[in-house]
Amino acid sequence: MTRDDILRLDRAHAWHPYTAMGRWQTRDDILVVREAEGSWIVDEDGKRYLDANSSWWTLTLGHRHPRIVRAAQQALERLDHVAFAGITHEPGAALARELLERAPGFSRVFYVDNGSTAIELAIKLAIEFHQRVGAEQRTEFVTFAGAFHGDSAGATSLGGVESFIAAYASITFPCHRLPAPSSEDEALAALEALIAERGDRLAAVFLEPMLQGAAGMKMQSASFLKKLRERVAAAGALFIADEVFAGYGRTGRFWATDHAGVTPDILCTGKAFAQFLPMGAVLATARLFEPFAGPEAAALPYGHTFNGNPFGATIAREVLAIYRDEGIVERVARDAPSFAACAASLERIPGVLRARSLGFVLAADLEDPSGVEGYGGTVGWRVYAEALSRGLYLRPLGSTVYACPPLNTASEDLDRLFEGLEASVRAALAAR
Ligand SMILES: Cc1ncc(COP(=O)(O)O)c(C=O)c1O
Repeated sequence: MTRDDILRLDRAHAWHPYTAMGRWQTRDDILVVREAEGSWIVDEDGKRYLDANSSWWTLTLGHRHPRIVRAAQQALERLDHVAFAGITHEPGAALARELLERAPGFSRVFYVDNGSTAIELAIKLAIEFHQRVGAEQRTEFVTFAGAFHGDSAGATSLGGVESFIAAYASITFPCHRLPAPSSEDEALAALEALIAERGDRLAAVFLEPMLQGAAGMKMQSASFLKKLRERVAAAGALFIADEVFAGYGRTGRFWATDHAGVTPDILCTGKAFAQFLPMGAVLATARLFEPFAGPEAAALPYGHTFNGNPFGATIAREVLAIYRDEGIVERVARDAPSFAACAASLERIPGVLRARSLGFVLAADLEDPSGVEGYGGTVGWRVYAEALSRGLYLRPLGSTVYACPPLNTASEDLDRLFEGLEASVRAALAAR
């Protein structure tokens, strides 16, 4: 099929996530991808684009890492799928141990299908845990402005990006929503006030540690995280870290919570966990798991068809092995200063309001001609078009542009990314 054939079929029949489908019919900047390798995607005309988005923040090891391709091929020679309820297998059992070696504060791994289902499970675990230890009154959840935990109903309830949640008030549960974690003092003061008033009612506090992604790549300090963890523990509530995006080295440590040396009660992971496969995991501490360890009636009534599927588990094991063998997290720590240097340089461009970086994430908030700052802004899409013309794939968040390339991107490609990003921002702002 040609590019035009694909577009014609797509425009007639497909419905895309987070996409204005009216504009889709006439847009001339749609990427029609034919193949991908490493940090690069290639369109139907053979043009190459640096995947500065890691394909929705997931491919930390780039596209088609040769070891993962080999592991996938070999896995299918042996086993495709069996349920994980009442059955086990080497990939599922061994992956749990290998993951816990990376997360020594935890004792159990429950596999899920993606980030949203990790959050759904964490919500239910928190409620059930408190019921089982005789604290049934702990039913209230705490979240933050700007939070994004996925698009299922429970995850939407915890959300703090107004445009993603506004329509769903009737099908979501109420939460205490504190100021954004990037406003550290306000958020902590609000948490303290809430604890003073209703501390014994709180079930859990959900946080994207160190880095709120969908909010516009907003960052917090490790000291905020540490203080928050201490206060939540003192209040007897659970601390649930959503590391679906921030985990797996993105911020410069394997887990974002490692920056503060804290162990959450529950940790949710996904995205990079199995790279291109929808699979994630929920990690629980021994204390959390204990009330579920009894006989029949103690079983957690939760599970999805594909939980713990052996194919995904095989890929996830190979991912961890590559992290170890290729020193992926160490590479992030080594190259992170170049992200910080690019942020400093972006901040000198007129029209850039602020720029920041953490690990392999770089973001800049731009002055928007519409006057709208944040997700509703449009200037980021101008940068997107400029970046595409320079061989760079850079999906924006409204008026915030950001880059989060694969963690094993070659140094010369990182230089290309920084140059292309800066040139695209300059061009887009000059055209305002
Ligand atoms: C922090 C965070 N949590 C949860 C999710 C939901 O993950 P998924 O899209 O795999 O359901 C996302 C997705 O972007 C995320 O960024």
